[in-house]
Amino acid sequence: MKAKNIVDQKKCEKCKLCIEVCPVNIIGVDENGLVNFIPEREKICLECGQCMAVCSTDAVKIAKYTYEDNFIKLPINSVDYQKYIDFVATRRSVRNFKNKPVEKEIVEKILASLNFAPYGAEPDKVEITIMNNRDKIESTLPLVEKFLDNIVKWVDNPIISRIIKHKKGIETFNTIKNHLYPMAKLENYKLKYGDRITRGAPALLIFHADKGAEEHTNNGLIYATYLMLAIHSMGLGGTMNEIIPAAINKDKEIKQMFNIPEQHEAIISIMFGYPKYKYKKTVKREAKKTNWIE
Ligand SMILES: Cc1cc2nc3c(=O)[nH]c(=O)nc-3n(C[C@H](O)[C@H](O)[C@H](O)COP(=O)(O)O)c2cc1C
Repeated sequence: MKAKNIVDQKKCEKCKLCIEVCPVNIIGVDENGLVNFIPEREKICLECGQCMAVCSTDAVKIAKYTYEDNFIKLPINSVDYQKYIDFVATRRSVRNFKNKPVEKEIVEKILASLNFAPYGAEPDKVEITIMNNRDKIESTLPLVEKFLDNIVKWVDNPIISRIIKHKKGIETFNTIKNHLYPMAKLENYKLKYGDRITRGAPALLIFHADKGAEEHTNNGLIYATYLMLAIHSMGLGGTMNEIIPAAINKDKEIKQMFNIPEQHEAIISIMFGYPKYKYKKTVKREAKKTNWIE
């Protein structure tokens, strides 16, 4: 078996840092005492690029990447703990937006931050759809409202309720029953009161993936978290939205309106735009219950 990935022996200084940082141990010292990829292990490469990033002489090369095209020099980390806390504390879920579209270049910049997010298994199996058009977002709302009306009927019906619990699992069922249902029952989302579903947002972004794609739910939620922070860093505001993906997954017509492939499942969405208001303070929430084992 021949290695797809290469260690350039002319450049390698045998510091073995690539061996140390590889999370799946696919680099070792071969029978000639040279640092090299282990051919029979290469198939489990995560393509994280840490071996190339740690090499001071650019001697390591995995098949997917080149130093020229896929690596950037790192800045000196200037974020200390206090700066980090100030940044995350000033992020809020924004549900009041200026009547102003988000420029495509801004959206592209926000999306570029995803390149630095962690991921499990296959990062590229999660796709993103952006509806950057308020009229198109609005055109989907009557069907989403119908979906929310149906939630009330389904939960009120003990047989359908049991089927949902069985098919969707207890976590999703409890989220519907204890969170969405009471709001839908109170008609909170009715369009006659205005748009309380996407809150007049000029842009809506949806993460989705093939239903069987490895780690797609975890990856989608991590990407959404990164995007929320990127949105905040650009002076925009956003809110995660679980109603839109739920409606997409239940109703084929809604799925088509968002142009999401039939075999895909929506994971989470983010509504975003320019915030109308500025918050002057934030809530000091209780610390999460933490169990120490020392
Ligand atoms: C997985 C998830 C789903 C959410 N879904 C919605 C939603 O459908 N509609 C909404 O207005 N807010 C939604 N939110 C926002 C939360 O309500 C919000 O994060 C929470 O109230 C805390 O407020 P903060 O983000 O301003 O700190 C969601 C948040 C998460 C993490």
